[in-house]
Amino acid sequence: MKQSRVLILDYGSQFTQLIARRLRELQVYSYVLPGETELSRIEEFKPDAIILSGGPSSVYDEHAPQLPKGLMEFQASHQLPLLGVCYGMQLVVQHFGGTISQAHHREYGRMGLKVKGESKLLGDLLNASVSNSFDVWMSHGDETKQVPPGFMVSALSASGATAAIENTDKNIYGLQFHPEVTHSQNGTEILKTFLFQIAKLNPDWTVGNLEENLIAKIREQVPEGRHVICALSGGVDSTVAACLVHRAIGDRLHCFFVDHGLLRYQERERVMKLFTEELHLKVECIDASVRFLSKLAGVSDPEVKRKIIGGEFIAVFEEAAKIIESRLGQLPDYLVQGTLYPDVIESSPAPSGDGSSPTKKHSTTIKSHHNVGGLPKNLRFKLIEPFRDLFKDEVRALGLKLGVPKNFVERHPFPGPGLAIRVLGDVKPEYLETLKLADEIFISEIREAGLYNKIWQAMAIFLPVRTVGVQGDGRTHDHVITLRAVTSVDGMTADWYHFDHQFLAKVSARICNEVRGVGRVVYDISSKPPATIEWE
Ligand code: XMP
Repeated sequence: MKQSRVLILDYGSQFTQLIARRLRELQVYSYVLPGETELSRIEEFKPDAIILSGGPSSVYDEHAPQLPKGLMEFQASHQLPLLGVCYGMQLVVQHFGGTISQAHHREYGRMGLKVKGESKLLGDLLNASVSNSFDVWMSHGDETKQVPPGFMVSALSASGATAAIENTDKNIYGLQFHPEVTHSQNGTEILKTFLFQIAKLNPDWTVGNLEENLIAKIREQVPEGRHVICALSGGVDSTVAACLVHRAIGDRLHCFFVDHGLLRYQERERVMKLFTEELHLKVECIDASVRFLSKLAGVSDPEVKRKIIGGEFIAVFEEAAKIIESRLGQLPDYLVQGTLYPDVIESSPAPSGDGSSPTKKHSTTIKSHHNVGGLPKNLRFKLIEPFRDLFKDEVRALGLKLGVPKNFVERHPFPGPGLAIRVLGDVKPEYLETLKLADEIFISEIREAGLYNKIWQAMAIFLPVRTVGVQGDGRTHDHVITLRAVTSVDGMTADWYHFDHQFLAKVSARICNEVRGVGRVVYDISSKPPATIEWE
């Protein structure tokens, strides 16, 4: 049976990815394409339903993104269920001859909604709840003034604005609010009604069939006799990718792990044990710590440090590829990368105030961090990126299915440049040793207290300043360790974690007592922005 597929056309809303997430949580495969995608690409995708996202534009702006040419004819000829959300609904209204105007009351945030009369999309909620009103999340400056002929208004907002419309003959629905955000009451129920009752889709997107499909695809991509390499970082994505590719092609996969000397306490031993004993992956460890640390000696500018590390990674990678070539008599043709869907989503242009249309992808900012350990473009490998369609939690679920231990798939993120950006300034080997011990105490106490999964990322940072202290009867003049722990969803914004004081007191005492050279421990209470998560 064909898998159900929903196409989401993106008009620049900050919530577009959330629509895709919600649908996948409801086990329906969804994919985001820019709002003005050519019809031929849409036809090729073969959607079973279409959702038009929200967006920051006004439909009457000169450069406002439009529906793809021919989309509505395509929709009509297949009777495809179509849901317009916010700006998406306004595009529908405009297309069918209704009118949009600037709202009298701009509606942002939580707003009361009253369902009105018969509605195929919202009717079930009425039957299920005693009240016909509930709160939804709005974020719009324009509103529907006149509904197009043939459409009915199925809900009004508290201020009397049109909040939902539908035309069941055409199979088209519109919501002025965002059902995808968790603040919208009944949002998931509304999406479920659209997917399962109106579009009659099957909830058939599961990690189980995902694994088989991905393995089949990798086998198809890598012909018999060809070889693949994978550089493991000790992170979740590359590890799960390696396990999957190994399932698909066995020993034609060649993995290596680079120890740059900037890893956490016993990290190399821990991950190598995991790779070989638990995951049964053959991984070669390349000890490159001397070359990384000697290149970094005396360098204190954070950006220069990042560049040096990036360059060294590439050099080590090239050497590893040559070693494998000398053994096989051929350079491997393929390279595995753990790239995720949020990094590749093509976002639609978000028109700026002056009407110009920059085509910045949301991924750009995120990637500039993560490509530090990245690989050179001129290495002539074909890429295998099995997770290009997946979100992080889907990769985690797949990892569990492939036998990657739970405490490993739930690991906090760790930056490519490692502890080099957590020893401020010059990265001296003795500072690294001090930092590793302090970090290990902090993280193990967090685990012990059952807080690890409540925190997005936690770390110790070494400050190369000396402060005066007193230990026993003597004066000390020792370094400072900062503790940092944050909550976040994606690392783009973050808040500091509110530990209770007893916990901080315990960690501070342990670090001062057990780690030589540390005389003071402080806790960082800055959010991002204005600070960043890392100190460099
Ligand atoms: P910041 O410090 O920018 O960090 O708030 C956000 C997230 O990115 C990680 N990070 C990096 N990851 N190379 C990486 O691979 C880098 O150069 C880098 N700098 C920061 C950081 O650990 C956090 O998860």
